[in-house]
Amino acid sequence: MQITREVVDQVFWVGGNDNRLERFENMFALPEGVAYNSYLIVDEQTVLLDTVDRAISGQYLENIRGVLQNRTLDYLVINHMEPDHCANIEAIVALYPEVTVIGNKKTFDFFHQYYQSDLSKNSLIVKEGDTLSVGKHTLKFYMAPMVHWPEVMFTFEESQGILFSADAFGSFGLLRGNLFADEVDWPTLFLDETRRYYANIVGRYGSQVQAVFKRLPLDQIKMIFPLHGPLWRQDLPLILNLYNQWSTYTPEKRGVTLIYASMYGNTESAVFVLANKLAQRGIKDLRIWDVSKSEPSFIISDLFKYSHFVLASPTYNMHLYLPFEALLRELTLLNWQNRRGVLIGNHTWSSAALKVMQGLLGQMKDIEVLGEPLDILSSLKAEREGELDALATILSEDVL
Ligand code: FEO
Repeated sequence: MQITREVVDQVFWVGGNDNRLERFENMFALPEGVAYNSYLIVDEQTVLLDTVDRAISGQYLENIRGVLQNRTLDYLVINHMEPDHCANIEAIVALYPEVTVIGNKKTFDFFHQYYQSDLSKNSLIVKEGDTLSVGKHTLKFYMAPMVHWPEVMFTFEESQGILFSADAFGSFGLLRGNLFADEVDWPTLFLDETRRYYANIVGRYGSQVQAVFKRLPLDQIKMIFPLHGPLWRQDLPLILNLYNQWSTYTPEKRGVTLIYASMYGNTESAVFVLANKLAQRGIKDLRIWDVSKSEPSFIISDLFKYSHFVLASPTYNMHLYLPFEALLRELTLLNWQNRRGVLIGNHTWSSAALKVMQGLLGQMKDIEVLGEPLDILSSLKAEREGELDALATILSEDVL
């Protein structure tokens, strides 16, 4: 049975939910599932915007047939050629062999890298600013390279002011019947998952997000329809401002993310001692993560949210504890920057954690270490509490 909805006049949501996938891109945990959005404009001509992951092909094709009924599909716009959105292009072309597939040159390069079909008779290559009128609706194409992949483009529907924004403004999490952000308790249900999606999927490409923002007709955008998560028709400044903050690596809140690795609980204990001291100095937002327990995407999301950090790790094999190093390397790749915080190392017979940590942080932009890093000898002793007090004071004063 079809699961579709006319979201605005002549524009239908025909996407679907995947509540079985364990990890997005086989990396990022999906405790609340994920939605793949796709949209169908039914005007004098019909236009499908993107397809969905192959996991939900059956539901998806039923949705499209249900909305089109006896009509054919005239156009398929490919805003993004990543398989979570493009896996049904061949199925659509097989169902509607006369369809014209619209993309840019890279779109079709990538298509032929992934798939076997010859699209040469079906393809229409567009570039920045090209338009297509299909009746009352006119589509204008904006290239959005590296918002998430190089072939990404956005499609702006001019008559109703709809920005079809590919991965941008997307979120992890199922669409539980309600499709619009204003139909649900968005801050509770989706803010964290939208940030986690941004930080981990698009986080590296802040400057490219900013570049496309400058070219979009922001004053004409009335709705934003992304490829994942809720659709936007109200409160656009809310999501636009968040994207502006995240893509400029500006902290959303003043607070401290404390991240540790700990083999026998001693580094962990030092972090909780420090958290206690920070709380007593008036810091309200304190988040604590164990790299061995929590998947990095959640930690990274908090690091994009909060202004300050505490990084604490033991030495391991005369190096930095490996899951901790992996997290810092991932942050380097994500261009995480513009934060301040303090460092804690721990070792029994050879100190390396702090040096490796400092080296990795040195590869990042505008990361400032406050105070003197504390290098614990196996476990924190009372005679060194003063050093931790000094770190708590300098950090809390900087946060406040
Ligand atoms: Fe949702 Fe970049 O794919």
